[in-house]
Amino acid sequence: MPTPYSVIRLDETESTQDVAREHFAGTPLLVVAARQTAGRGRSGAIWETAPRAVGLSLATNLEWEPARWPLVPLISGVVAAELLDCTLKWPNDLMMGEAKIGGILVEVADAVAVIGMGLNLWWPDPPPYRSGVFREDPGPEAGLGLGNRWSDAVIRALAMPPSEWPHDRFVARCVSIGQTVTWDPGGAGTVTGVDGDGSLVVETPAGRQTLRAGEIRHVRPAS
Ligand code: BTN
Repeated sequence: MPTPYSVIRLDETESTQDVAREHFAGTPLLVVAARQTAGRGRSGAIWETAPRAVGLSLATNLEWEPARWPLVPLISGVVAAELLDCTLKWPNDLMMGEAKIGGILVEVADAVAVIGMGLNLWWPDPPPYRSGVFREDPGPEAGLGLGNRWSDAVIRALAMPPSEWPHDRFVARCVSIGQTVTWDPGGAGTVTGVDGDGSLVVETPAGRQTLRAGEIRHVRPAS
């Protein structure tokens, strides 16, 4: 089957998100870079990268009604977690044990999503709570290979009706469930599940709450 997207491959750029949006011409486009000088994380953070890393941005039209767009980051995360055989911290941090190995940032404008994924592939001396996917340097081609497989899976998932998003597969990999967490702005509770619309379900002293990824930040295990 032909690859259903075109690819721009770069050694270095500021942010693959911007390249993907700039070059998007109506059909899916994957931008792959070995290094970014201004990679963006969620909540305006700088995206820190390992010596061997890859930045991926997949630009695609969104055919779903806007109310379903919040599922896109979760779907992109679960297909990545399955590819890497790792876990997910809600909404879409890619985790190995306590360490984050990758993250996803979805930016939507004019019904075009740029789905960004940063993967730290090999990190011999990582900062606390960070790690690479591999123990040994997988070499310069590994990022493109993973990016192609991830893009295929994301495009396939987004071609399905949103009601068929892989909720159960997300839940099976989500380590947040069962944890007592805090979030900004000010909240704390125990995670009991993930709703069909992708919201996090928590039990708090004031009762059951559902948290939407775009409305809260910094969901962390309570210390
Ligand atoms: C997070 O904060 O966990 C999300 C990180 C997303 C980083 C990726 S790297 C590829 C793409 N380009 C960017 O500037 N950001 C995303």
